[in-house]
Amino acid sequence: PGRDPRLPLKLIVAAPRGFCAGVDRAIEIVERALLKFGAPVYVRHEIVHNQYVVDSLKAKGAIFVEELDEVPDDAPVVFSAHGVPKTVPAEAERRNMLYVDATCPLVSKVHRQAERQVEKGQHILFIGHAGHPEVIGTMGQVPPGQITLVETVEDVADLDFTPEDNLSYLSQTTLSVDDTHDIIVALQERFPQIVAPKAEDICYATSNRQAAVKRIAASCDLVLVIGAPNSSNSLRLVEVSERMGTDARLIQRADEIDSSWLEGVGTVGLTAGASAPEKLVREVVDRLSDWRAVEEDIVTAAEENMIFKLPRQLTE
Ligand code: F3S
Repeated sequence: PGRDPRLPLKLIVAAPRGFCAGVDRAIEIVERALLKFGAPVYVRHEIVHNQYVVDSLKAKGAIFVEELDEVPDDAPVVFSAHGVPKTVPAEAERRNMLYVDATCPLVSKVHRQAERQVEKGQHILFIGHAGHPEVIGTMGQVPPGQITLVETVEDVADLDFTPEDNLSYLSQTTLSVDDTHDIIVALQERFPQIVAPKAEDICYATSNRQAAVKRIAASCDLVLVIGAPNSSNSLRLVEVSERMGTDARLIQRADEIDSSWLEGVGTVGLTAGASAPEKLVREVVDRLSDWRAVEEDIVTAAEENMIFKLPRQLTE
């Protein structure tokens, strides 16, 4: 009696974590569109893959849809940060719609490279995850016969090309740095002539968040990753930790944490995917503090100061 039964819990918070510059910009685009045009503003696809962000924007008057045909001709519409195939803005123009493109500038950069590679007569091998909206968007920048999706090292062996073909590669921005490296090595082995992109397509935010988890995972018994199950970069953070031998769990909100997860756990690592707000990180820290005396520490793997300009439509 009188002794605090709560064992202290060491919490290592990874930095950088959470919002990247592309997510910040996409959310600000919807907020400014609401101010400028008034509600409702339609958003094609979740602006970023986070339920909390989507719900907050819904409360301000945004309406989320999956396809453009769900948007009335005379309502403003924003395209999500993941990017869209060319057919989407083309359709919006045909219908004379007011649209704002919130595609992350780093995704747009990959789009422009895809166009340039096809202009040069190269067939693109695109490294990415089937079905992810960014992949649908990037593959939709060029005619379907000019780009082939490669998901794994095993896929490389099945490709129906020869070392004489004019090939290049590109990748999704939110992949595993390590897996992508292995796929690129396999591509270069089979097709030594393959042309690389000008710069790495995996974005700074993706690689910094993975590097930060690598820094903390070995010292943790459990790593919590705040992110959505459809968020590519968040899923990769779980993998990074697991591959270092540390259990990791993807959670959307603090209330998903079960106190039994902490049994026998002395040190917990905490990070958040690029679409998860810092508010949710604090919510998790508070939740953990309900059960244990939390000693918080931050480990920083990189400094970030990236800011992207807003589209001129919304700043004038
Ligand atoms: Fe852009 Fe990378 Fe974020 S591509 S939206 S900066 S995760």
